[in-house]
Amino acid sequence: MTIYTPTPKTVLKAAHKLRSGGVVSFPTETVYGLGCDTFNKSAVSIVYKLKSRPRNNPMITHILNTSWVNTLCTGWDNRCQNLAQHFWPGPLTLVLPKKDSVPTEACGGFNTIAIRCPSHDVAVQLLKLFDGPISAPSANKHGHISPTTAQHVEDEFGKQLMVLDGGPCEKGIESTVLSMVNTPTVLRPGSITPEEISKITGRVETTTTTTQTNSPGTTGRHYAPNTPTKLFNKDDVETHNNGAVVLVIESAPKNVKHVIHMPDNASDYAKKLYASLRYADAIGATQICIEKPQDTQRWQAVLDRLHRCCAE
Ligand code: TXA
Ligand code: MG
Repeated sequence: MTIYTPTPKTVLKAAHKLRSGGVVSFPTETVYGLGCDTFNKSAVSIVYKLKSRPRNNPMITHILNTSWVNTLCTGWDNRCQNLAQHFWPGPLTLVLPKKDSVPTEACGGFNTIAIRCPSHDVAVQLLKLFDGPISAPSANKHGHISPTTAQHVEDEFGKQLMVLDGGPCEKGIESTVLSMVNTPTVLRPGSITPEEISKITGRVETTTTTTQTNSPGTTGRHYAPNTPTKLFNKDDVETHNNGAVVLVIESAPKNVKHVIHMPDNASDYAKKLYASLRYADAIGATQICIEKPQDTQRWQAVLDRLHRCCAE
């Protein structure tokens, strides 16, 4: 069996698997991760292979608490400590210069490392029992939609992979990635917003066009369904074809067989988004039409994912 109910016994089995250089999928509050031992180069290599992920796309290292940061990075200053105090455990990833002892393979060849402390109880239990940092990208094939349930992970990788089932993820989209190398800079928007961060750190920069050099995993088409997907303004949604699935917030499109009603607040929308896109793929829709949410601060992380899943 691939999907395991988390119990002390099954979480210990997962920890042993990691210890022996294996790969395990586990839930976090954002999305499911595909975890391996950060310090085991061959385990890291298995994760890249399984995902078909380019080797220059660094992974996030998951830790239990701030006492682990000194084994991984340098430059952990008061700003980082304050951020951790406010937002950890939770969906904020901090990028800092890495320690030489951390294999560059786990960091996409970079001299920086992305670290976060997840809040999901199963992730916490796994980190405790493994007793070391776990590198984990989202548990999906490269470029595909991130998984928010254990079943999604099995759909991606089949029954060979051990998946700890922690139920549907609370947040539903990936963590905010914040570079702390110089001025705090958001490399990937998430549910923790630049405004919230700036209350702790002062000025925060945001990147609009991220390049290969600052966060490879945020470039181009990503989080994408197999079905062609397009964003539409509210009033244009109903003009599109019959085989389409539409994700609507306010509009009530006519002559469309499959309508998925999405929540009108950004956090509930985010929670439902990836499962809705997977559903649309699964029923064989000819197109996925998405009503564009409003362009306000609250919706930035969702809009970022929608733009990337619609990118050519
Ligand atoms: O919520 C999340 O962050 C989930 C869960 C499993 O923790 N993980 C996740 O991992 O989304 P992944 O690998 O799908 O995305 C990691 C992102 C990528 O955009 C990558 O470029 C960025 O983090 N990243 C990782 N290390 C970096 C570094 N050293 N410098 C800049 N960006 C980095
Ligand atoms: Mg990912």
